Amino acid sequence: MHDVTEGTDPVYCPFSSEALPDKFLWGVATSAFQLEGSPYADWTSWDEILSEKPDVTDHYNLYKKDLALLKDIGVNAYRFSLEWSRIQPRENVWDDDAIAHYQDIIDILKSDNIEPMVTLHHFTHPLWFIKKYPWHEDASVEKFLIFAEKIVSRLKGVRYWITFNEPYVLILGGYFEGCTPPGLRNVQLGVKALENILACHGKVYDIIHSKASDAMAKPMVSVAHNMAALAPWNKWNPLDKLLSKIAKYFYNHSLLDAFITGSLSVKFPFKKAVKIPVPIKGKLDFLGVNYYTRIHMRFNPFKKMGVELRHRDIDGYGLTDMGWEIHPHGLAKVLRYSSKLNVPLIITENGIATRDDQRKIKFMKRHIDVLEKCIKDGINVRGFFYWSLIDNYEWLQGLDARFGLYKVDFDTLKRKPTNAAAYYSYLIKSMDFS
Ligand code: BGC
Repeated sequence: MHDVTEGTDPVYCPFSSEALPDKFLWGVATSAFQLEGSPYADWTSWDEILSEKPDVTDHYNLYKKDLALLKDIGVNAYRFSLEWSRIQPRENVWDDDAIAHYQDIIDILKSDNIEPMVTLHHFTHPLWFIKKYPWHEDASVEKFLIFAEKIVSRLKGVRYWITFNEPYVLILGGYFEGCTPPGLRNVQLGVKALENILACHGKVYDIIHSKASDAMAKPMVSVAHNMAALAPWNKWNPLDKLLSKIAKYFYNHSLLDAFITGSLSVKFPFKKAVKIPVPIKGKLDFLGVNYYTRIHMRFNPFKKMGVELRHRDIDGYGLTDMGWEIHPHGLAKVLRYSSKLNVPLIITENGIATRDDQRKIKFMKRHIDVLEKCIKDGINVRGFFYWSLIDNYEWLQGLDARFGLYKVDFDTLKRKPTNAAAYYSYLIKSMDFS
């Protein structure tokens, strides 16, 4: 029997490696809702109970000033997302000004020689969508595609696209744990929702490629896949080991296999794996990897979903302000594994929540050292995006988690560089991965 707990080597790999980006992308990543908020987004009403508001940085108005910070750092790429609910605040209403706003961002980036990477979907939805067409409903696919079609035909000058940011995180939060919209705890619906999201990815991939003309550089389309180093709570305990193996397969590897085989293997402890066809075989020009931390796990019937997770400071680098373990070596593991896809890899997010500039610098240095070693070992990594440009709204954690290269004073709205911004500039100038 095929052991789904182990990543198996593909028999047939549908990708070719001709699609190499010409230059190494040094970038920073952001998401629209985390900087701009939106009165029409599902999270806005979800989060009403929280006092902290995502539009607190006023980035929607101050975007030109914030984009100028990219030049100060010296990055040659910028990953940002579109807030779908601003563009389509009601089901049949399109806001042309919002589209023009995002086009302006692209135009500014291009005039500064900064490669835009556009994320179509970064966790949030228009409220009408999540109420009427949540992802477990098949009609969600058509609705998302109408949005994606519109964007792909309207926005000019984008080569790098991320269809979905962290589809698994979206499903775990929205359907397994129920802590994010649509707030369900129903694994079956979650799997259905994932199928629909992946169906959208496949179709959007085709739309983007079909719109590209010969004169344009080949489009580069991916998802941003959150990958974590996953380990048993106690490495001598066979149950903990089994759990972390299954989790590793499901969380990190099953999506990669689905891009190779066109089928998603879903396996729950002590149950037979189920294979679900998903139309994404070969629909990937690079893989976006978001990497942050390592998680230890064990079974615990008193915890949500029967699993207990914890972070331990094993490497001695400490935990971040969000309590996450700093484990740079995990980046090498996930990159090595992802290289089996035979497409270029781009680290689309990596960063630390801390108010301590020195810790931010050390975090960055340690991860980029690992990246350098991976590239020397022949892993085809073509970009690194630090998360994030400025302090922003960190979902359920609110405003306390400070990921920014620039600090934001939420009262005066002043942006102030951390020493990590200068360090990143120095790294970009001194490292040559071309
Ligand atoms: C998400 C970001 C988030 C970051 C830090 C990533 O998983 O894409 O939206 O802010 O992690 O938690």
